[in-house]
Amino acid sequence: MDNNVFKNLSYGVYIVSCDINGKYTGCTVNSIMQITSEPPSIALSVNHNNYTNFCLKESEKFAVSILSEESNPIAIGTFGFRSGRDINKFEIIPYTLYDNLPVVKDACGYLICKITGKTETQTHTLFIAEVIDGNILNTKTPMTYSYYHNVIKGKSPKTAPTYIKE
Ligand SMILES: Cc1cc2nc3c(=O)[nH]c(=O)nc-3n(C[C@H](O)[C@H](O)[C@H](O)COP(=O)(O)O)c2cc1C
Repeated sequence: MDNNVFKNLSYGVYIVSCDINGKYTGCTVNSIMQITSEPPSIALSVNHNNYTNFCLKESEKFAVSILSEESNPIAIGTFGFRSGRDINKFEIIPYTLYDNLPVVKDACGYLICKITGKTETQTHTLFIAEVIDGNILNTKTPMTYSYYHNVIKGKSPKTAPTYIKE
């Protein structure tokens, strides 16, 4: 199989966040897709080794910050290459609270989600969630995963479900 074929699938770039015992944490993800419109629901794949996986299972609710082409790449890197086990990412990256969950300031929209199901794979948990609130925050163009790779020249760590060994 030519694993490069997976590069032809399209995604956005997001920060998933939650509240664990009064502390905010989260990570960068690309693996979000809408699965139904009534009720609105999404799926999200998170690696077992990510602290966010543990926190999502504890908190049952999360926010999705939808990043735009103008979003700060430092936020993508902080949330995507560092662990909430080691640092408080929301001490570094500015945010606004929506429904008591942090959304990064330069997001172009957000979703508030309630986890309704989980399926385990060998490496990742597939979370199914109902979207209970959401809003467009500005008119900036949402960032695609290919924009992140081709224009920003960003990389993805091994924990991303789309990781391909170079
Ligand atoms: C562009 C990008 C996309 C990513 N997509 C995912 C993803 O969909 N699922 C996932 O589990 N990790 C993904 N990651 C990796 C996590 O963000 C990374 O492992 C993070 O450091 C985990 O932090 P945590 O330990 O605080 O949860 C992605 C990283 C980047 C930079």
